[in-house]
Amino acid sequence: MAHYLVTGGSGFIGSHAVDELLRRGERVRVLDNLSTGRKQNVAHILDRIEFFEMDIRDLESIRPAFTGVDYVIHLAALPSVPRSVEDPVTTNDINIGGTLNVLIAARDAKVKRLVFSASSSAYGDNPEFPRVETQAPRPLSPYALTKLAGEYYCQLFAMLYGLETVSLRYFNIFGPRQNHNSPYTGVLSIFITALLRNQVPVIFGDGEQSRDFTYVANAVEATLLACVAPGAAGQVINVGVGEQFTLNQTVAMLNRIMGLNVKARYGPPREGDVRDSLADISLARRLLEYKPGFRYEEGLRRTVEWYREELAAGR
Ligand code: UD1
Repeated sequence: MAHYLVTGGSGFIGSHAVDELLRRGERVRVLDNLSTGRKQNVAHILDRIEFFEMDIRDLESIRPAFTGVDYVIHLAALPSVPRSVEDPVTTNDINIGGTLNVLIAARDAKVKRLVFSASSSAYGDNPEFPRVETQAPRPLSPYALTKLAGEYYCQLFAMLYGLETVSLRYFNIFGPRQNHNSPYTGVLSIFITALLRNQVPVIFGDGEQSRDFTYVANAVEATLLACVAPGAAGQVINVGVGEQFTLNQTVAMLNRIMGLNVKARYGPPREGDVRDSLADISLARRLLEYKPGFRYEEGLRRTVEWYREELAAGR
């Protein structure tokens, strides 16, 4: 049994990682300040984890959470491209300053490896498709820049201090527990809850922008593999599905899944937005032996069911 620390472990992706680790019989600690994460996400397993309610911006306070830990999965972050455009300072403090603190605490506690939640946004508008890790990054938003800086810090800590690190560039993760009560959540949680509430989703731009939407279970699978895969240390690795869908296609698929016929409204394009995004996942396949277990439509079906139950329960 290995000992894992999941920062951001009561958040959307983190709580799924915690569930899966427990299912595999591992020991789990969660570090979360509950700013965007929710206690409700881990309520069903609270008696099986150690919970540290702490903020990664405070290095001295977080150190005890790292003592005796084998692997750190660092998911604590402030997500959202538009939020980072409105308030770059807070995004910077949490995503860069906080990540530096997590790396220092992990280094000093002599953990075996740290896996960092990097982002596909690092590629920005690089014209080459699909996205391969060797392409030059071109961040278009403070969020993208902070996630890229986190990768560089991870690599520096490997070089300078011998801390094993792996950065996973997640491509638009979606699924149950993505917080539909925040305006800064992902587009799918906004669209699905809008449709379930008989509201009209609003597409920013012409709807022809595309994403490699990745069901959360795929991201968790890749993340747990990255903790232990022998060849992964020091790498930056795409985690997506390798399939691209536009927002217009997405609305059509959701209508079909829900048995609706709702037309989206179109608004002005969003600032800092990437036009197209598609992962080349060859490296993840090779180094992690990762295979995306869920394709888009299956992920959408499961996610729709989850939101249906949440809304029915008044949450
Ligand atoms: C970006 C990153 C992603 C990261 C996420 C964290 C890219 C390609 N992806 O996601 O890896 O995890 O930030 O926050 O950079 N939209 C609408 N209507 C809405 C809401 C959004 O049309 O009501 C549009 C957006 O303008 C965008 C697309 O949907 O074109 C996806 O937006 P969003 O879900 O916020 O994610 P990204 O910014 O793509």
